[in-house]
Amino acid sequence: MAHKIVVITGSFRKNGNSLILANAFIKGAEQAGNEVRVFDAAKANMDGCHGDASCHKNGYCGLKDDGVQLHELLAWADTMVLVSPLYFQGFASPVKKVIDRFYPYAAAPARAKLGVKTAMLIATGATREESDFRAMEQVFDHALKILKIEDGGKFFATGLKAPGEAFNHDSYIRKAVRMGMQVGAYTED
Ligand SMILES: Cc1cc2nc3c(=O)[nH]c(=O)nc-3n(C[C@H](O)[C@H](O)[C@H](O)COP(=O)(O)O)c2cc1C
Repeated sequence: MAHKIVVITGSFRKNGNSLILANAFIKGAEQAGNEVRVFDAAKANMDGCHGDASCHKNGYCGLKDDGVQLHELLAWADTMVLVSPLYFQGFASPVKKVIDRFYPYAAAPARAKLGVKTAMLIATGATREESDFRAMEQVFDHALKILKIEDGGKFFATGLKAPGEAFNHDSYIRKAVRMGMQVGAYTED
């Protein structure tokens, strides 16, 4: 079955490792016949959540910035992929802003508008320890619980420091392509 996938990226770096893996994922997803749209949170003109919780009453976010486009994509897509560098063991700020803007879907009036049923996570870090991604993973898992959506698979790519280094890791590229090809049926190695 073809899927509608929104890939949310958040690195400011040209040739960034997370963007390389995002592109590999997209290649696989499109090869498998899925439709992919990208929301680049690093380029988006978007505030963080203002926290007035008006969305929980109104059923929509009152901020009229690029978050409007984000919410349109979240309504359109059935699958969302968060792609982030690991910053201080958490999400890079552009992706964290996106996560905070999920707040409308924590309450009934907006929840029905969320098309996304499954989320995946791809993250890159300089560390060699996969355990350094645990804090980020906890935030991801918590967001899925609040949004009542399924975990479609996670990939924590270690040992990536300078931009472009991901190209030296064939196994990483292949894994990201495979995640894209197997959306809806992805299983960890
Ligand atoms: C502000 C900042 C904080 C970082 N914090 C971590 C960290 O906590 N753990 C880690 O392994 N790497 C950390 N890194 C390294 C990046 O996660 C790593 O270089 C990653 O591959 C960058 O992805 P990108 O090329 O897509 O931007 C940090 C880098 C920056 C600039």
